[in-house]
Amino acid sequence: MSLTPAFLDELRMRTSLSTLIGRTVKVQKAGREYKACCPFHNEKTPSFTINDEKGFYHCFGCGAHGDAIRWMTDQRGLPFMEAVKELAQAAGMDVPAPDPRAAKRAEAAKGLHDAMAAAQDFFVAQLDAIEGAEARAYLSKRGISDATRRAFGFGYSPDSRGRLRTALKDYGDPMLVEAGLLIDPDAAEPDSDRAKKRDPYDRFRGRLMLPIRDIRGRTIAFGGRILGQGEPKYLNSPDTPLFDKGRTLYNIDRASPASRQTGRVIVVEGYMDVIALAQAGFGDAVAPLGTALTEHQIERLWKMVEVPILCFDGDSAGQKAAIRAATRALPLLRPGHSLAFATLPQGQDPDDLLRASGPAAMDAVLDAAQPLVERLWSHEQGSAPLDTPEQKAALKQRLRALTDAIADPDVRAHYAHAFRERYDALFFARPAFTPAARGSGSGNSAARWQRDKRGNWKAPIGPAGHEVRAIGASGMEQRLLRAILAGLLRHPDQIALHRETLAGLPIGDPILARLADSMISASLRKETVETQGLLTILEPGEVYNMAKGMLRADTFTLTPHKMTADPDRLARDLEEAIRVMAQGPELEAALAEATRRFKGDVSEENLAEQQRLLALKADHDRRLAELAQPEDIV
Ligand code: UTP
Ligand code: MN
Repeated sequence: MSLTPAFLDELRMRTSLSTLIGRTVKVQKAGREYKACCPFHNEKTPSFTINDEKGFYHCFGCGAHGDAIRWMTDQRGLPFMEAVKELAQAAGMDVPAPDPRAAKRAEAAKGLHDAMAAAQDFFVAQLDAIEGAEARAYLSKRGISDATRRAFGFGYSPDSRGRLRTALKDYGDPMLVEAGLLIDPDAAEPDSDRAKKRDPYDRFRGRLMLPIRDIRGRTIAFGGRILGQGEPKYLNSPDTPLFDKGRTLYNIDRASPASRQTGRVIVVEGYMDVIALAQAGFGDAVAPLGTALTEHQIERLWKMVEVPILCFDGDSAGQKAAIRAATRALPLLRPGHSLAFATLPQGQDPDDLLRASGPAAMDAVLDAAQPLVERLWSHEQGSAPLDTPEQKAALKQRLRALTDAIADPDVRAHYAHAFRERYDALFFARPAFTPAARGSGSGNSAARWQRDKRGNWKAPIGPAGHEVRAIGASGMEQRLLRAILAGLLRHPDQIALHRETLAGLPIGDPILARLADSMISASLRKETVETQGLLTILEPGEVYNMAKGMLRADTFTLTPHKMTADPDRLARDLEEAIRVMAQGPELEAALAEATRRFKGDVSEENLAEQQRLLALKADHDRRLAELAQPEDIV
């Protein structure tokens, strides 16, 4: 559908912005403008102004700024077209229909929407009627207040096959069937030549009804809970032209504006969890409808906040669901966007938890949410034994498979790095050390990562141990070090990623060490560093000349120049080279220590440790040689 600028101008002109905003926020007249407390951030004195003449709002506190359409998309969370439609409707304008088919669909949808709205009114009225007594008792037994009951539109479907059908007969059976409100018994066997047609009948009978609404608050489906025991516990509308289960999140209409205030979205499993949370003051919760989170739902959540918190039961089914969601998100990850995982006490859903322990307990669960990377790591680490070398290598393979599933190259590189750090810390951990050549400051990050009480990895701390030799002892190492620095000079955007490891490298050669230091501090000072900019801040003389030399086309670099520049491959190669480089001196120091211990106490245990490190060292030397002399350029 194409909207002309003239149409949009007309729409803005016909919309009174202060009235529109005044529906959700208290506005006061101030001269020719209006003032309000900004709905986009928390404040006590109003810095949000509305100018009807210009058709703009502006917040001097947080910079929020926009017109009527922007208000609908940003504050109400509507997609652009939905925003335009709703404004146009209020302004009495017809949104231009692009083609007759779409116009027809829109017409049909309008009928369905009306039918759903009528059904919702019917169910609400039934809850208040005599027959609704049992459902009302159920609600009060579950501690649902009248305000919550109204806010979530609870209703009741009488235990009868035809009450709704009769009440909504003006819409006609075909439309009510299409809306999922009636079941057509003949639809299941369309070819049967049954002489007598059977009548459609009410789908929802004797259930507590919950409307499922779209972002605009229109009822598009229902969930009906059985009162007491029975199957299914929840009966849901089938997919209809209005309702696509995989694209819908329960409570999105209320959670979307709430999330703008809190900067948070909580994803829980059930209807009642969302409702109990809202009643306890957590208005920013949504739920998928009885299925695993879909890609669409993840994308929808990311429109609200960058890192939605998924809340799962601590039992094995809940944790399986968490991992399924985590895996599904990997191909979709992009800078800034992720998921966090909060784990509930075993066997309690949020509704149970709030009932048993109150909102503070829920807060604690949310505060302890794990980042995606951490959740995946702890899952893989715990999913199989890690006793033999083969099992350890298999862990690496599983981590690699996860990393490979990430489409975004920057996010992928960071995941590879994060997993490798944890992997190395798990298997190659050794006593703390102090870089010998370059004093204190930042130690090597891979060496001494530790877990805190919550199981999260914490940056290395701890006392200095024995010293390690400087980098650059062998010609091979020297060659690789130059290649790394040359690579970073050519691609300075990579420096920040490796800052800590670089800073921890005990580089022996003083000129190379100074060059590395300059690059690190440049990356700390500026967000974007360019090669030219880097050169200008280098100290004149040896360091500058060294850098210039490295930029010459014939110097050895990690990724051959002749290959068309592949930023992905470069990032991967650099990452591995730096890691291997950093490992050398540490491995040797650990090996020396293990050898010393073995000589002092000839035990099987000490021998095994020494042998383990010897094998690692051999592995390391082989990899170093491969990196320093890649086959494709010799
Ligand atoms: P649960 O079985 O965990 O129920 O289903 P619940 O949310 O705790 O419900 P209460 O507290 O007993 O009322 C979680 C969600 O799975 C879907 C619903 O969306 C439900 O909220 N579900 C469950 C169904 O769609 N159908 C069912 O039969 C059961
Ligand atoms: Mn429950």
